[in-house]
Amino acid sequence: MHNFESIKSLFEQRFDSAPTYEIRASGRINIIGEHTDYNMGYVLPAAINKFIFFAGATNGLDHCRVYAADIDEYDTIPLNGEFQRSSKLWVNYLLGILDQYRQQGVSLEGLDVVFGGNLPLGSGMSSSAALETGFATLVKTAFDVEIEKPEIARLAQRSSHQFVGVPCGIMDQFASLMGREKQLVLLDCRSLEYEYIPCDLGKYEIVLINSKISHDLSESAYEERVKECAEGVKVLQQFYSQVQSLRDVSKAMVLKHKEELGPIVFKRCLYVTSENERLLQVCESLREGKVEEVGPLLFETHAGLRDLYEVSCKEVDFLVDFAVQHPAVIGSRIMGGGFGGCSINLVESARSDDFISSVKLAYQDAYQRKAEAYQVDIVDGTDLVKSIVYS
Ligand code: GLA
Repeated sequence: MHNFESIKSLFEQRFDSAPTYEIRASGRINIIGEHTDYNMGYVLPAAINKFIFFAGATNGLDHCRVYAADIDEYDTIPLNGEFQRSSKLWVNYLLGILDQYRQQGVSLEGLDVVFGGNLPLGSGMSSSAALETGFATLVKTAFDVEIEKPEIARLAQRSSHQFVGVPCGIMDQFASLMGREKQLVLLDCRSLEYEYIPCDLGKYEIVLINSKISHDLSESAYEERVKECAEGVKVLQQFYSQVQSLRDVSKAMVLKHKEELGPIVFKRCLYVTSENERLLQVCESLREGKVEEVGPLLFETHAGLRDLYEVSCKEVDFLVDFAVQHPAVIGSRIMGGGFGGCSINLVESARSDDFISSVKLAYQDAYQRKAEAYQVDIVDGTDLVKSIVYS
């Protein structure tokens, strides 16, 4: 666990000078709209107060020197010649960003970087997107690149696709950058149009419960889901020429072509089309201040992710089942890519302490694992916090 102070002092110890740039990169939550982004649908994420802090400076060398404080690993990245993939996943995220800037014609020079924070890794809160957006913001700042935040999000997504090999959607990078204090980001992943919806939850609050089952997005299951959805699109195009993605498909169309889709692809398409509908309902309820109506939709999403999309796991199912029974919780579901990580819960603030302690106990009993709970705040997205100008 690091904060800005510890990251800065590690930088000073390692590189013998103060950092020039300080960047704070945010993790994210997602209220609803899971696995809809790469299907060109809607998502409803927000940036949260779980961060990766970056301290950086140019070093006048032909390579970057980078220290990942949370995992105590150091590496160098040569800048002469083609970028070579590393055996370390975190290094590939940085390499991918550098590669994208270079493809855009930015001439890169050596950087010294130390980063680390309080954003749990592999927990569905997008530590990898925070790593990408924080580093991309550092490179932009150090080399004076003219690039706006939505474009950085796209650059980071391409980097994940091309360098890391994860065919992710745009939600994580977009939310990490574009998040705004106390606001949810309603993003249309087809047009990239977005609007902010106030996250006014009345007497409720958001609580994340981390199962501590670590997921790995590069795992084939995520890619498999992307392919299955594409297959669904192909089948439906035979009947509806206007269909370009599952965004153009209604639940009724999926139900009508159950036979042609086949059992697996049918389930995947049914989930995605239902999820887009649920998301729009959630936005309406929030706008009308009817928070109680949001809860049941979160439970429905969980059931869909578990039974139709099949990206949950028994440990997070347990957390959600427990939440269903608890009187303080009005909604709960697995969050993020799946196969572990956190559940997101809508909990009555006055009774959230009771929920947290009882779910932790029950989880420990069932799986001999310590769950962690986070009562997160919604904050601004990734940004430069300080830049020292030497004259
Ligand atoms: C991961 C991906 C996102 C999105 C979610 C599921 O976090 O990076 O693009 O697909 O899974 O909603």
